[in-house]
Amino acid sequence: MKPELQFFIGKGGVGKSTTSAITSVHLSRNSHDILLVSMDPAHNQRDIFQQDFGEKPQRAGNQLVVKEVNVDYWIEKYLKETEKTIKQTYSYESAFNLQNYFNVLQFSPGLEEYALLLAFENIIHTFKDKDIIIFDMAPTALTLRFFSLPFITLIWLDELLKLRNQIYAKKEIISKIKIGRREIEQDKVKAKLEHLIYNYEHLRDHFISNATKINLVMNHDRLSFSEAFRIKKKLKDIGINIETIIINKAQSKEVPDEVRNEFNNQKIALFPLSSKSILGYKALNEYIDENNEIFLE
Ligand SMILES: Nc1ncnc2c1ncn2[C@@H]1O[C@H](COP(=O)(O)OP(=O)(O)OP(=O)(O)O)[C@@H](O)[C@H]1O
Ligand SMILES: [Mg+2]
Repeated sequence: MKPELQFFIGKGGVGKSTTSAITSVHLSRNSHDILLVSMDPAHNQRDIFQQDFGEKPQRAGNQLVVKEVNVDYWIEKYLKETEKTIKQTYSYESAFNLQNYFNVLQFSPGLEEYALLLAFENIIHTFKDKDIIIFDMAPTALTLRFFSLPFITLIWLDELLKLRNQIYAKKEIISKIKIGRREIEQDKVKAKLEHLIYNYEHLRDHFISNATKINLVMNHDRLSFSEAFRIKKKLKDIGINIETIIINKAQSKEVPDEVRNEFNNQKIALFPLSSKSILGYKALNEYIDENNEIFLE
């Protein structure tokens, strides 16, 4: 499946943005057409490349463009689409007092990950021509909510569909008694639920596809290991596997036993600690030239 997707995830500050930038530059130098996407609302790529980025991808190198997801834009889009759908589905909208509902919804927990998922869906539809799309993710908590969203939503949607079928069956019985014939009107709510299920299954399939690689970044310290072990378990619970472990800011070539034991099915890459800052396209290239044996394929 093209493009390949790579996610850089891990604890705050371990180097997700730096290692995803280095990997993007490295792969683009090996003649792959790369899109690097910053999915962290606190964007770091602009500081790393020392260049302004936004929703529209900007060229950062030969065969490399960078995009920052504007979470506020996607939250607003999500709210507007929800409002439109509800109004279309329920013609008796005024009975619900929808406006009040929307005034509250904008403060609802969970909006950020919905917005990220919408942005993700848009990206995989828009950039089908890229060889590899690299996602620089937010620290653990938001990223885990983002990955689990399609799975959780599908559980909800399945239950809602069952309920809707029960309601519809009753409605049919009543109309049979009343009018003596089957109602042929289409159930808009059921059709919408089925459409949503189709969409979320598609998103979930992207997360568990062989063309998707999850790179878990950590540093050589105990807190970082513990958090990485927890992330691995939580992702495994929803069927997502980690492809590669990146030990960043490495000061020796040795992989600690506990990491090797826990991640015996994963590739392990060591990204050395740099004595200079890795800021700007030139510095990223110098880092690659100095450490050319480490990189992800
Ligand atoms: N291999 C490295 N050698 C030296 N410094 C590094 C290395 N990797 C990252 N850093 C530095 O560590 C700090 C954190 O890195 P970075 O911003 O990439 O982490 P992050 O995981 O993306 O953080 P956040 O969770 O805040 O998004 C930065 O100052 C960065 O320059
Ligand atoms: Mg970052």
